[in-house]
Amino acid sequence: MKLDINGQEHEVDVPADMPLLWVLRDVVGLTGTKFGCGMAQCGACTVHVDGTPIRSCVTPAVALAGKKITTIEGLSADANHAVQRAWIETDVVQCGYCQSGQIMSAVALLAQKPKPTDADIDAAMSGNICRCGTYQRIRSAVRRASELLAFESNREAGHVA
Ligand code: FES
Repeated sequence: MKLDINGQEHEVDVPADMPLLWVLRDVVGLTGTKFGCGMAQCGACTVHVDGTPIRSCVTPAVALAGKKITTIEGLSADANHAVQRAWIETDVVQCGYCQSGQIMSAVALLAQKPKPTDADIDAAMSGNICRCGTYQRIRSAVRRASELLAFESNREAGHVA
């Protein structure tokens, strides 16, 4: 089976019921996506399929042939994606375990709603659990990422020097 992961085609030979999470981590070697609950309850394993956030722990990889899978490693080569920069600037992370899933949910939210309200943020992030309780800083970081993305798109449009 061929999988398109972060813009690269991967030929993988895996059981039909193998969740994408284990294909990513154990077969392809992309360990940025984390295992938390294995039951679609915590969000640690969040990746995008054709831009939509999904829980890779409960999604069989076989269902994803022909779709574009994006993991945290696919956002940028050097943590330079606006959402990653906002996370660093806001100093969100404590233990860090859930944060790649948090960031993937935030990226999907901002692609859909570039200027989310607090209610939008809370709704979009509600499936991502953080044991350290970094929720306030996550909210601040999503707002900051929204500013950074707006700045980037203005610059690309030639409105900012
Ligand atoms: S590990 Fe997939 S939602 Fe918790």
